[in-house]
Amino acid sequence: MKTKILTELKNSKDYVSGQQLCEKFGVSRTAVWKAVEQLRESGYGIESVRRKGYLLVSRPEQISVEEIQSGLNTRWLPGKICYFDTIDSTNRYADQLGREGKVEKDGILVVADHQTMGKGRRGRTWVSPAGKNIFMSLLLKPGISVENVSGITLVMALSISRAMQMLYGLPVQIKWPNDIVCRGKKLCGILTEMRVEENEISHVVIGVGINVNIEEFPEELKDTATSLYLELQQQQSRSRLICEIMKQFEQDVERFYRTENLSELQEEYQTYLVNQNQEICVIEPDKSYRGIGRGINEKGELLVELPDGTMKKIYAGEVSVRGVYGYV
Ligand code: BTN
Repeated sequence: MKTKILTELKNSKDYVSGQQLCEKFGVSRTAVWKAVEQLRESGYGIESVRRKGYLLVSRPEQISVEEIQSGLNTRWLPGKICYFDTIDSTNRYADQLGREGKVEKDGILVVADHQTMGKGRRGRTWVSPAGKNIFMSLLLKPGISVENVSGITLVMALSISRAMQMLYGLPVQIKWPNDIVCRGKKLCGILTEMRVEENEISHVVIGVGINVNIEEFPEELKDTATSLYLELQQQQSRSRLICEIMKQFEQDVERFYRTENLSELQEEYQTYLVNQNQEICVIEPDKSYRGIGRGINEKGELLVELPDGTMKKIYAGEVSVRGVYGYV
């Protein structure tokens, strides 16, 4: 019903009467009113005037290159922006640009409104509906050594967390290494992929998916995912958030490139770390064990205190956290 009413409103330059909509679609006035309310919640501005009906006055924010460029307050990032209404995956496209040697010195930001094959970590898919969320990938060619580059994904997690805290005052946290959670549910995921040739970094793609204005998740994600809209009860501008993330990341990545480690960012990262001093379960491919999260080191490895008091450094492998995502 929502779609039918929206189409009707889009096709009309003048008010469309409620009665007309009821008759056309064979539904009650309440059903029409409810659908209009749902459209308003999705960001559509719909005016209603007695005896005249409904008029579509604004649509949800559209992302565009101009929109992002005009809001950027950075010195060099990103060197270029590519925007797509629909794409399979911004990570896939950014990687293709990298393989074709089209890496700009200051990076290329690939942004899409909708992804048909959004990639999550560990071969999962990333829910990517149109008109709601942020799907972006930053293509970079960091001039640092291969051993140190993986920390860049933690840098992005920190920049996004700070941007969200600054813009919305939200109590966001980082689930090591790079999930951003709010009140125990996932708000943002990061998928970093890279290519190495002859022991040198050819390029790095940092893919970011942020649940911004999505109001409802598929059943299987309901208990574990959230969005800015659900946390703040208000639609948010995607372009504004993208611009703030670029600003924060520009500062942070400069510090990371300079030291080739997280020494200058580690302390702040830890203030966001949900695993800090929490009992965690470390799940490795062949075994799992428990310990207490004790922060990260300069390389971005998670330090875990084992029950016998020894400290273990965790580089890869998934860490599940008690109380986060609603599971133990
Ligand atoms: C995760 O599983 O937590 C990581 C999700 C990363 C999703 C983003 S959306 C933009 C970019 N393009 C992709 O195909 N994936 C990443």
